[in-house]
Amino acid sequence: MVYLRFVQAELKNNLKRGEIMKKLALLGGAGGIGQPLGLLLKNSLPQGWHLSLYDIAPVTPGVAKDLSHIPTPVSCDGFAGEDPSEALKDADIVLITAGVARKPGMDRADLFKINAGIIKNLIEKVATVCPDAFVGIITNPVNTTVAIAAEVLKKHGVYNKAKLFGVTTLDVIRSKTFIGELKGKNPADLDVTVIGGHSGVTILPLLSQVKGVEFSDEEIASLTHRIQNAGTEVVEAKAGGGSATLSMAEAACRFANAIVKGMNGEDSTLCAYVEGGSPHARFFAQPVKVGPEGVTDVLDYGALSDFEKKTLEEMLETLQGNVSKGEEFVNNQ
Ligand code: APR
Repeated sequence: MVYLRFVQAELKNNLKRGEIMKKLALLGGAGGIGQPLGLLLKNSLPQGWHLSLYDIAPVTPGVAKDLSHIPTPVSCDGFAGEDPSEALKDADIVLITAGVARKPGMDRADLFKINAGIIKNLIEKVATVCPDAFVGIITNPVNTTVAIAAEVLKKHGVYNKAKLFGVTTLDVIRSKTFIGELKGKNPADLDVTVIGGHSGVTILPLLSQVKGVEFSDEEIASLTHRIQNAGTEVVEAKAGGGSATLSMAEAACRFANAIVKGMNGEDSTLCAYVEGGSPHARFFAQPVKVGPEGVTDVLDYGALSDFEKKTLEEMLETLQGNVSKGEEFVNNQ
């Protein structure tokens, strides 16, 4: 009993003594991605973080209550309804996975009409409630929704390109997994850079640079194709029941923790879809270094093989078109 009181007092003291409480807002927190992502974040964010869920679904406060019974030093609450402001208040990181998911026969572009409107509305709230937050967009089509977010933030005069990210970590973790499977390696030991965008042909894993493995030309072609179409593999396997949720949640959790590390001043690099001065497109997935104020450096992704150069060249029209579509969605209304 005395010991328990001591532990409780210590936890409180630590919070008081420690840094100011930090907050992550997860929009879409009751969804197929949102719920496992909330669970992973509850279990992995450092002490002193608060997790706030928001979703239009009425179950959301209940999801947060459920999570709150897990004994970790991360507190949480949840809000449902039309207005995400309570969840966004004082947020340091905002992750957005609100939207509709892909069904068989749909590609990411088909999601555009619905998800574009959702992102625009949510980012308008971010712009007014927590304009300094890091924002990670998961809602597809990411190639376009990130451009929408940038333009909305710009219209509000609060766009900071160092803090807006399209989450492409799923392409990286899939690459590690598929290479590991093919080559009999532990995927956790593999390091893969994935550049370009986050749909189909715009996803370019730099297989020529993966250390400790050799590929034949056929393997490069088939692995690249598999990584680019991995989302469809899941959509088809779920047979109408949804798209990637668990692997996406894991990817987004890794993304969030990389941002937290950077915010804490620790060395943190990741691949993400950012406006980072790429000669190829306004937004481009590439390795970046993150610090307390956002992206500090866009890192050189090294020399490409002939296959990679050709794949990059061939994707650019699609990627640039995806970006323009987002810009036009906001600016031609
Ligand atoms: N505001 C807040 N939440 C919303 C809104 C909105 N305007 N519209 C939908 N949602 C919520 C839904 O209530 C649901 O809980 O977003 C959640 C989406 O969950 P799912 O339909 O299960 O979809 P999910 O598989 O999680 O994918 C969501 O992420 O990766 C992307 O392609 C995926 O764009 C899709 C999104």
